[in-house]
Amino acid sequence: MRKLNIGLTEEQRQGVIGLLNRDLSNAYLLLIKTKKYHWDVVGPQFRSLHQMWEEHYQALTENIDSLAERVRMLGGYPVGTAQGFLENASIEEHGGDVPTAEQMVSNLVGDHEQVIRNLRDHVDQCSESFHDEGTADFLTGLMEQHEEMAWMLRSFIEGQSIQPDGQTSAEPKLTVAAN
Ligand SMILES: [Fe+2]
Repeated sequence: MRKLNIGLTEEQRQGVIGLLNRDLSNAYLLLIKTKKYHWDVVGPQFRSLHQMWEEHYQALTENIDSLAERVRMLGGYPVGTAQGFLENASIEEHGGDVPTAEQMVSNLVGDHEQVIRNLRDHVDQCSESFHDEGTADFLTGLMEQHEEMAWMLRSFIEGQSIQPDGQTSAEPKLTVAAN
């Protein structure tokens, strides 16, 4: 195969491919979790959450394709197995349980925030360590999308604090004095 001659060293190219594959794997896990909650959610906010998660799922599907194709543009091969996604992802699955709608939202806020932190770090690495401004720009765009999705989710549980363990706790409610 003809070697790529795009101004990146082999080490820089492989470094970027590694970051992209980790971002791809996290995006795939987030896609699965989002779809599962789209199916499982119940409660007064069913319609809003069910529809919002469908939109997020569609956006994530497009992002996954873009991540995988960028790996190919750089001469690499994207992770493409369930086991590979699990091995390369840093967000965690919540297997088996069916949480409350609020807990689902809280779980996804935590996941999107983790993805945002990863992407922020990967943007820096692409610029500073790997001299790849194209991928830095691409990942910045993805980070902005996750920031928007996290904001939309956070708005559902506004007024409730999210604990470090991902649990939500409702603010103390005003009690109405009995007549
Ligand atoms: Fe659906």
